[in-house]
Order: sequence, then structure tokens, then C-alpha cells
Amino acid sequence: MKKISLTGIKSTGSLHIGNYFGAIKPALELSAEYDARYFIADYHALNTEKNPAELESSIREVAAGWLAAGLDPEKVIFYRQSSIPEVFELTTMIMAFTAKGLMNRAHAYKAAVQENQERGEDPDAGINMGLFTYPVLMAADIIIFDSDVVPVGKDQVQHIEMAQDIAQSVNANYKKEILKVPRAAITESVAVVPGLDGRKMSKSYNNAIPLFGPENQLQKLIMRMVTNSQAVEEPKDPDTSQIFLLYKLFASGEEQEALAARYRAGGMGWGEAKEELFRVVNRQLTPMRERFNTIIADREGLDRILAAGAEKARPIAAATVKRFRKAAGID
Ligand code: ADP
Ligand code: TRP
Repeated sequence: MKKISLTGIKSTGSLHIGNYFGAIKPALELSAEYDARYFIADYHALNTEKNPAELESSIREVAAGWLAAGLDPEKVIFYRQSSIPEVFELTTMIMAFTAKGLMNRAHAYKAAVQENQERGEDPDAGINMGLFTYPVLMAADIIIFDSDVVPVGKDQVQHIEMAQDIAQSVNANYKKEILKVPRAAITESVAVVPGLDGRKMSKSYNNAIPLFGPENQLQKLIMRMVTNSQAVEEPKDPDTSQIFLLYKLFASGEEQEALAARYRAGGMGWGEAKEELFRVVNRQLTPMRERFNTIIADREGLDRILAAGAEKARPIAAATVKRFRKAAGID
């Protein structure tokens, strides 16, 4: 039997190239050799997105984004988290095996508390229970499909470890492998895609390059990238330049060597380095952008694909819940 690969992307805002290289592309590569289950984490998104129009459009953008990037819904089970009620049943069950202290240690929750404290506010200000229990829902997402590997960016590793902890607590209690213990699959070379300001690319830092934005926006964002004040004639170090780090994601080996040599030789200004970056990024993103625009325009087609995915996913999810209920004495 093939092993199972599973991942989800939260539908908040638009996809950016960090999402593509950190999550979507490695996940699609794994789908060649694994049975893949990929989904849109729309209930996770609800924790932070309370505007219905925004949430709805983000769900469609993330769904169309997966398909434009090459997901084949005939081969990959592709669905919305909210269409699988069994996930929420499993969430309740594993809550009983999740130490509250484990949640207290979650990076995202701790960061939110710290921000509140720094602002002199109540530590729990603006933190809802969905955010606090985020890792439990994520563990249920993973465990319910008997996942072996979970392709994600480095920032998600702690969540996968929590899913492991939770599955192990259940198995230890019943002295039987009721739930599969998953592991994270990180693509080291692209574990953290830098953003326009050199920090990790993220929606929350406002430093992201949208994956499917119009060409002129792409060009503007790249030309706006922060650089140091080295003059045109000065030799430059490609390995410490975030322009070059991004270039490496899009350029061939030969192109990378040629441009690195020009950096080192001097005589190339940052403006020219950015133009070269724009050229390779746009070359790769143009066909994806065109596919994306076609897919997102076909509302019903997209709904049909997601509904068909949910139909395939639910019996698998129901089997896990059934197995667990039986072991728990709730048959
Ligand atoms: P954001 O930080 O923009 O809110 P998400 O948390 O929604 O992004 O991330 C969705 C997926 O994309 C996750 O698997 C995450 O690890 C990956 N990801 C996000 N940003 C990056 C990045 N800069 N580099 C690599 N992977 C990333
Ligand atoms: N927490 C992930 C993120 O922010 C999204 C997510 C939800 C997920 N459930 C998941 C990722 C299950 C992998 C597996 O990107």
C-alpha cells in the first residue's frame, strides 16, 4: 500500500511564493509517489477572518491556486476542511488526550500572549479558543486520514510534533495503534522563503510576493525590495543577497552560476539584479497565473471538484472515527 501524504493551507488572504515553494510545490512532488490528501483549512481561517466576503474569496483563491499549480483532482483527494464533519468529531475526541500545557507552549499562542503583554494589555486580549486549540484541530486534520508525512514549512513543525504527541497518548492509553503517528516532510532548500524585506515571507509581515498577482504588481514589488547601499561598480556577495536567494528558486543552475559571477565581478547594480529576478519569476508565474484566472472564473467547476473530493474523503475519515470510538468504549 502506498504511504499517505497530507497537507492543508489556511484560507486567509492570497497565496504568496513562500506558500508555493514551502508547501504547495513539495506537496505536489510528493503526490507522485504517495496517496495524497490536500485541503483548504477554512475553519482554521475563521479564527482570524470574520469578514464573510474575504473568507469566501480566499477559500476560492487557495483552491484555484492548488489547481493552477498542478494538483490533479483525479489523483489527489482535494477538499475543504469544513466539508468533513468527522474531523470535528475527532477533534473533540482527541481534546480528551491533549494536555492544556501542550497548548500553552504553542509558538503562535505564546507570540500572541507576548504581544499583548508588550502592549500592556490583558494577556488573553483578542485570543479566541479557536486560536488556543488550533493545534488540536490541525492534529485531527492530519490523524484522521492516517497520514504518514505532512509536507509543510519549518514554522509548522511544532504543530506536527503536537499531533505526534496526541496520537501517541491515544495509542498508549489503549495499548494499541489506534491512530497513525505522522511525521513532517520539510524541503530544506526552501524551508524559509525570504520576503521583500529579508524576513520570512508572510502575509502577516506585509512583505509577500503574491503568487497570482498581475504582472505590473510583481514588477513593482520586486523593484521595491530592500538592498544595501553598495554602488554599481562594487563586487557583491550573492550568498547574502535576498534578491539572489529568491532568484535561486526560479532560475536554472546555469543561470544561477552566470548571475553569481556577475555579482562577484562588480559592475552590476541592484536595479539590474532586480530586473533579472523579475524576468525569471515572471517566466515561471505567467502560465500559472493564466491557469489560475481561468479556474477561478469557473465557480461551479471549482465547487464540483471540491464536492467530489469531500465525497471521497469522508468514508476514510469516518473509518478512523469509528475505530477510535470502538477502542474508547463509545460504539
Ligand atoms: P503566512 O505566514 O503567510 O500566513 P501560512 O501560515 O498560511 O503563511 O502558510 C501556509 C503554508 O506555507 C505553510 O505550510 C507554511 O509553512 C508555508 N509557508 C508560508 N510562508 C513560507 C515561507 N516564507 N517559506 C516557506 N514556507 C512558507
Ligand atoms: N497550520 C497550517 C498553516 O498555517 C495549515 C494547516 C491546517 C495544516 N491543518 C493542517 C497543514 C494539517 C498541514 C496539515 O499553514
